[in-house]
Amino acid sequence: MKIEKLDGSIFKVTYGMPQNPIEVVQKFHANDVKDFYCAQENNMLIVKDKEILITQRSEDFKNGIFSVDFSCKEAHFFGFGEKMGYLDKRGRNFKMINSDFPLHTPDLDPMYISIPFFIAIIGKSAIGIFVDSTSYSFFNLREDGFTLSARDEGITMYFIYGPDVKNVISTFTGIVGRMEMPPAWAIGYQQSRWSYSKDEAIEVAKKMRQKDIPCDVIYLDIDYMDGYRVFTWKNDFENGFSDQLHNMGFKLVTIVDPGVKIDQNYDIYRSAKSIDGFVKDKEGNDFTGYVWPGRCNFPDFLRSDVREWWARSHRALFEKGVDGIWNDMNEPAIVWTDSKTKKVSELFKREIDFQILGEAKSLFSQDDAGDEAFHKDDSGKIWPHYKVRNIYAYLEAMSTKRAFEIHKPGKRPFILTRSGFAGIQKYAAVWTGDNSSWWEHLEIEMPISMGLGLSGVAFTGADVGGFGGDANGELLARWMEMGSFFPFFRNHSAIGTARQEPWSFGEKIEEIAKKYIKLRYALFPYIYTAFYFAHKEGIPIIKPLFMLDQNNKDLYSINDEFVFGDSILVAPVTRPNTTWRTVYIPKDKWIDMRNGNIYEGDHVYKIDAPLEEIPIFVKDGSIIFKTDPLNYIFEREKMNLYVDVYGNSAIGYLYEDDGETLGYKDGQYNLYEFAIGSAVDGYTIGIKRLHNGYSGRYDNVKVKFLNAPRMITKIRLNGKEVENHFEGKDLVIEFQMKDVI
Ligand code: GLC
Repeated sequence: MKIEKLDGSIFKVTYGMPQNPIEVVQKFHANDVKDFYCAQENNMLIVKDKEILITQRSEDFKNGIFSVDFSCKEAHFFGFGEKMGYLDKRGRNFKMINSDFPLHTPDLDPMYISIPFFIAIIGKSAIGIFVDSTSYSFFNLREDGFTLSARDEGITMYFIYGPDVKNVISTFTGIVGRMEMPPAWAIGYQQSRWSYSKDEAIEVAKKMRQKDIPCDVIYLDIDYMDGYRVFTWKNDFENGFSDQLHNMGFKLVTIVDPGVKIDQNYDIYRSAKSIDGFVKDKEGNDFTGYVWPGRCNFPDFLRSDVREWWARSHRALFEKGVDGIWNDMNEPAIVWTDSKTKKVSELFKREIDFQILGEAKSLFSQDDAGDEAFHKDDSGKIWPHYKVRNIYAYLEAMSTKRAFEIHKPGKRPFILTRSGFAGIQKYAAVWTGDNSSWWEHLEIEMPISMGLGLSGVAFTGADVGGFGGDANGELLARWMEMGSFFPFFRNHSAIGTARQEPWSFGEKIEEIAKKYIKLRYALFPYIYTAFYFAHKEGIPIIKPLFMLDQNNKDLYSINDEFVFGDSILVAPVTRPNTTWRTVYIPKDKWIDMRNGNIYEGDHVYKIDAPLEEIPIFVKDGSIIFKTDPLNYIFEREKMNLYVDVYGNSAIGYLYEDDGETLGYKDGQYNLYEFAIGSAVDGYTIGIKRLHNGYSGRYDNVKVKFLNAPRMITKIRLNGKEVENHFEGKDLVIEFQMKDVI
C-alpha cells in the first residue's frame, strides 16, 4: 500500500498495481485540515479525524478482482452517481459497469452511469471516497463497514475530507472537474419525443408559441437520420428546417448514437475504416454489434485520432444548424453481437432474424461485453473492453466537446448524455434514461438526481412525463410541476406511447404545465446563479435536505423533498388522487411561496396541494431573483429584474453573463451581492458588484419586501433614502441598476 498526501485534505492510497487507460484526476488545491489523516498501522490503513475512524480489515486479490475491506461505526452512504433507490445506500451492494437496462425496477443495478464515488457520514463528519478505477467495480455497504473491489490488479482510492458534505463535493469536483456554464437556453424548457418527423417538430414548435408556452429547444430522435446512419439526414430535413425553428426562437438538438452502420457506401463508415478506428474483437477484426441501424462497428474513443475524426464528423449536423448534441446508447448499448448470434443460431439450428433481434432492446448482457472487445490507446497498448467501458461515453463526450470547438468556435457546447463516468460534468449534462410513466418513477427521480448531484453531476434531469408507458393528465401535471425545479427540464417519451406535450390532456393540464414552465422562466436569474455556483464550486443545484444539517440523521431518509438552489424547498406530490402531503420543514423559518404563510422549522406539516399546485417554500432571509417570463430565454436584450425579499434581513447573489460565449471564462460576467437589513423605521439595502465584467441585461430593478410591516416608511439604498410605496402587502422600490452601481 502506498499513501500519498495530495494538497490539503486529500489522500491517495494505492494497493497493488492498478492500471487505468486514462487519468480522470487532475491537480487541485484543497484546504488543509489538521485533524484528518490516513496512515498505515500494522500494514493496514487507518483513516481518522475527531469523529471518523475507518480501519482496514483485509485486502484480497482473487479471480482477477482486487478487494479491500474496511470497518467503521455507524456509517451512512450517499452518492454512487446514478443508482435506483433512496439516498442513504446503507445495506446495499452496487456494481459499476455502464449498462442499458430499460426497465428501471427498484433493485435494478447497474445503470447507465458509473461514478465510483460516495460520501460516508460517520458521526458528525463527512468523508468522500473515490475508487479511481475505470474498470468494473463493486461496493458492499454495511452499517459497520464497506468493501470496495475492482476488476484489476490493484485499486486506487482517494479519501477526501469534509467534514461537511459541501466541502467533500467541492473538493471531489475539484479533482475530477466541474461543469462549465451551459448556454443559457439549456436552462429553458425542452420538448422531445421519439421521434418527431419534420412536420411534427415544426408543428410542436408553432403550437408552443401560439399557446404562449415558453420553450427553448426541440429535439430530434433517431428518425431524422438516413437509415439510422449517424451524421446523416433524411432528405426531408435537408433544407431550411433548422432556420424555421431558429426564426421562432428555438434551438435544435439532435441525437447521436455511437454505432456506425457497416455500409461500404456510407462515407462515415469508410472514413472510420481509413483510420482503422473501430473497437476490435478477439481475432482483431472490427467488433460487431446490433443497434438501430443493424450491424454496426464502434469507434474506439480511447484513441485521440478517433476522437478527432468523430469531432470533425459533426460538421454534417452543425452545418445544418444543429445547436446541441444528445449522446445516447453510449454505454455502449448493443442489442446483440455476432458471436451471440452464432451461438443462438447453433442452439436453434437455424438462422436468426437480425431485424427482430435488433428491435428487442438490450438482450445482450453487458457483463459479457468486457471480454469480447478490445481498445487501443495512443501508445498502441491494447485494453480489454471492461477497463474502457465505463469511460466510453466520457471519451465520446470529450470528443463531442471538441466538435463544438471546431465547428462552433467561441460558443458554449450543449451536450446531453445518458452514460458517463466520474467527471462527466466537464463535458455534458445527464438525463436518467428510460424511466416510465409511473408514479413510482416520478418519486424516485428525486433521489436519483440528488445522488448524481452528490457525485459531482449538477446538471441533471429525467424524462418529464415518463419515457415508457402511457402518461395521463394528472401524472403529467405533477411531473411538469416537479420537473420545472430540476436542473435539466425536458419532456420526452417513447415511440408508441401516448403523446405528452403540455396540451395532450386537455386545457386544465395545459394550464398547469404552462403555469410552472412560466415560473421556471421567471426564476431564470435565480436558477442561472445556482448554475454558476455549480460551475464555480461544484455545488449541486438540487440538494438533499441533509445538506442543510448533516448532523440531523432524520434528514437522511427524506427522499421526496429537495432544495433547489440555496433557498427554495420543493415538496412534489407523487401519488395519484392526492391533494395534500406532509412536508418536513427544515430548521429556521420557511415561507410558502404560494401564499406567504410562515412555517417554523424542524416540524412536519400537512400542506395543501391541489392538482394545480406544488408546495414550494422559501427560506426566511433569502432573496429570490426573478424576471418576466419570456417565450424563450434571452428573447429580449434587456430584462427587468425583480428582487423578492423574504424576511427582515436577507442576503442573495445574482450572476449574469452573455449566456452563449466563453467570455465568462475571461471574466466577462457580473456577480452582485444584495444585502438587506432592517432598522426600527425601515430597511436598508446594499448592492455590491463583486465582479464587474459584462454590460448587463438587467436595467430596471424592482425590489419587493414581501409582507412588510405597515410602519416601515424608510428605505435606504446603498446609504441613500429612496422613494417607496406599498403594492398590496409588499413594500416596493424601483430603480435603474446603472444609477446605483
Ligand atoms: C433510448 C433512449 C431514448 C431514445 C431511444 C431512441 O432508449 O434512452 O431516450 O428515445 O433510445 O433513440
